[in-house]
Amino acid sequence: MERKVRSHWASRIGFIWAAAGSAVGLGNIWRFPYMTGENGGSIFILVYLLCVALLGLPLIIAEVMLGKISQRNPVGAFQKLAGKNTPWQLAGFMGVLAAFVILPFYSVVAGWCLSFLYKTITGVFEVGHSMAEIMSIFKQLTSSPIQQSVFHGLFLAMTVGIVLAGVQKGLQRWTEILMPALILILVGLAGYGLTLPGAQEGLNFLLSPQPEKLTSQSILSAMGQCFFSLSLGMGAMLTYGSYLRANDRASNSSLWVVLMDTVIALLAGFVVFPIVFTFTHEPAQGPGLVFVTLPASFLQMPGGTWIALAFFILLFFAALTSSISLLEVVTAYFIDEHKMLRSAAAIMPGVVCFLMGVGCAYSGGYFDFLDKLASNYLLPLGALIISLFTGWKLDKKFAKNDFGGTWFYGFFYPWLWCVRIIAPLLITLIFLNALGIF
Ligand code: TRP
Repeated sequence: MERKVRSHWASRIGFIWAAAGSAVGLGNIWRFPYMTGENGGSIFILVYLLCVALLGLPLIIAEVMLGKISQRNPVGAFQKLAGKNTPWQLAGFMGVLAAFVILPFYSVVAGWCLSFLYKTITGVFEVGHSMAEIMSIFKQLTSSPIQQSVFHGLFLAMTVGIVLAGVQKGLQRWTEILMPALILILVGLAGYGLTLPGAQEGLNFLLSPQPEKLTSQSILSAMGQCFFSLSLGMGAMLTYGSYLRANDRASNSSLWVVLMDTVIALLAGFVVFPIVFTFTHEPAQGPGLVFVTLPASFLQMPGGTWIALAFFILLFFAALTSSISLLEVVTAYFIDEHKMLRSAAAIMPGVVCFLMGVGCAYSGGYFDFLDKLASNYLLPLGALIISLFTGWKLDKKFAKNDFGGTWFYGFFYPWLWCVRIIAPLLITLIFLNALGIF
């Protein structure tokens, strides 16, 4: 059967916004601050930044490149580049499956965010509410499967809606609107955070390393966070790369995405920790950090409901531009490999993820399990395979071309040795170390 012409981004900038939209998400604004809080602050950030430089950057280039060269979804990409029915394609299938692990819990958390927006607008949150009151509102939400399912369903419906509209009219158009808005709100909130009395203490927590707090588990968490935050290891970046044109560059576009993602995670820290150290002094709160401590702190201040409103809009935008990339992996797979229409290929997995998310909502702790399973195991494993494939199996001329002809060319060999040796070795060592093997 003849293939339809593949859709492409309208411009290179379109790709950068969309890929940055995928990367910047709950991972930066909800997960990164609480992970940092739980794992000892600045030392975690230091390890995280090392992971970004040695694993994140080389691997995002590799993933985007595999997409660009193959012009396919993750399964099709490995089949096209490695040949039919080789074990490599397992990485592609694992990616499509990982979307069904991540999207349901991601969307439940994004649903919390929508519900908080709703509560802020309808006046459930009022200035003067205490920490205990917010805590009980959050507990009531997370123990109500019905409430959670409604908001999670709403969020998924929006995700499906955007993916339905396609590459240029859906993914690209919405990220080009939502991402600049997100950056404006974040910079505003960070500016505000830095004027608070706890700013100094907050920044100290983020910036002065205490190496004694580093454990093998926190190194694994830093690596997991790096892959999760950059949307790596399951083919999301590969799929976005597949909408580049053959003469676009994967390499230096990816650099922009990594820069934006990292700066935005740090900025989120500059918003959260000054506030935490001004009002509660409890940085190690876990997943409730952004949903309890933060709103409770906002509501101690005059006009706090407006700040809460801005913050939850920010979180919602960030989540939406990421969830569409998770769904797009599955949609692209069904369109390419099973010749489905985009509508069916977006709605069907959307419904499955909705039902799985409802399952999450009914069984509380299960979502933490999915989160860890994906970030600490599935993504690093996927990234390991992608790295070995790009380093050893893919013809070097593709990568050489991609890097060629610009100031970026000097990075070709360092990049190559990263994906060949350094990344696979580091991922394996961090795994073994976390399993307690040495
Ligand atoms: N990177 C996003 C975040 O930080 C989440 C995300 C989108 C993701 N697509 C992904 C994570 C693919 C892993 C794999 O919130």
